[in-house]
Amino acid sequence: AGLNAVAQAAGKLYFGTATDNPELTDTAYVAILNDNEQFGQITAANSMKWDATEPEQGVFTFAQGDQIAELATNNGRLLRGHNCVWDQQLPAWVTAGNFNAAELTSIVQNHCGTVVGHYKGQVWDVVNEPFNDDGTFTSDVFFDTLGTNYINIALEAARAADPNAKLYINDFNIEGTGVKATAMKNLVTSLKSQGVPIDGVGFESHFIVGEVPSTLQQNMEEFIALGIEVAITELDVRMTLPETAALLEQQKNDYQTVITACQAVEGCVGITIWDFTDKFSWVPGAFPGQGAACPWDANLVKKPAFDGIVAGF
Ligand code: XIL
Repeated sequence: AGLNAVAQAAGKLYFGTATDNPELTDTAYVAILNDNEQFGQITAANSMKWDATEPEQGVFTFAQGDQIAELATNNGRLLRGHNCVWDQQLPAWVTAGNFNAAELTSIVQNHCGTVVGHYKGQVWDVVNEPFNDDGTFTSDVFFDTLGTNYINIALEAARAADPNAKLYINDFNIEGTGVKATAMKNLVTSLKSQGVPIDGVGFESHFIVGEVPSTLQQNMEEFIALGIEVAITELDVRMTLPETAALLEQQKNDYQTVITACQAVEGCVGITIWDFTDKFSWVPGAFPGQGAACPWDANLVKKPAFDGIVAGF
């Protein structure tokens, strides 16, 4: 059975994967990607980001994003929009623009409103990675110009563009309890008290073999108690290369642990892996010397991690 079939049989909305446009010329890869039994949800790894969708001010380019969206919508699958506002993969006109608060407000409103309006009826990571690991807000063009109000502005613009979209804030190192998770909980509480729309928090879940936080389930429950849902949005479990049988076995257990935690929490609605094969994983590029983070190996053969996912549901 496929991962999405198993997840749905267990009561989750979906099991999904990220993918990226250059990968879509690989026919063996696409055959797995397009198997609805494996993946019931798709996230664009890059092509809905700001640099891809609004490379020049007011000029929107959706061809690449649409190619990913169609993989989902043409096959009756869910699409996760990723993302509206982030301090990375921004076009230079945003970072170098020296906009005042009023100007940047309308830029954020126009960007989020246009991309969320283009991909309607979806789930959106409206705000991506707003925090540093110590729980302070990341200093970037948005925070430095608008303070935390940029988050309100983005979420409200997204809601105005599509009243039916589920609106998320997404981050990493918030999966276990701690200062960063607490900062995110405080942000959610603050947004709710202000009447700002927020439907969920995404746990990216870029884990290291043997280091899945023991408080994952408890932490999910604490987020859900705030009146939102959670999702595992970018799961992978990396190791220092070379891979060994022992590391792959621990990785299997780690994947299973993550699925088991989500499965135990009704408000954890679904799980997305950050691509399914080591062939296209972002890990070796981002963490030199590490890799082998996905459930399929670089030859598109299932690893023990695949069985760990199935066993977790
Ligand atoms: C990554 C992509 O996978 C890479 O291809 C790109 O070079 C950098 O971004 N957190 C996120 C994702 O929210 O957008 C990032 O995706 C991985 C970390």
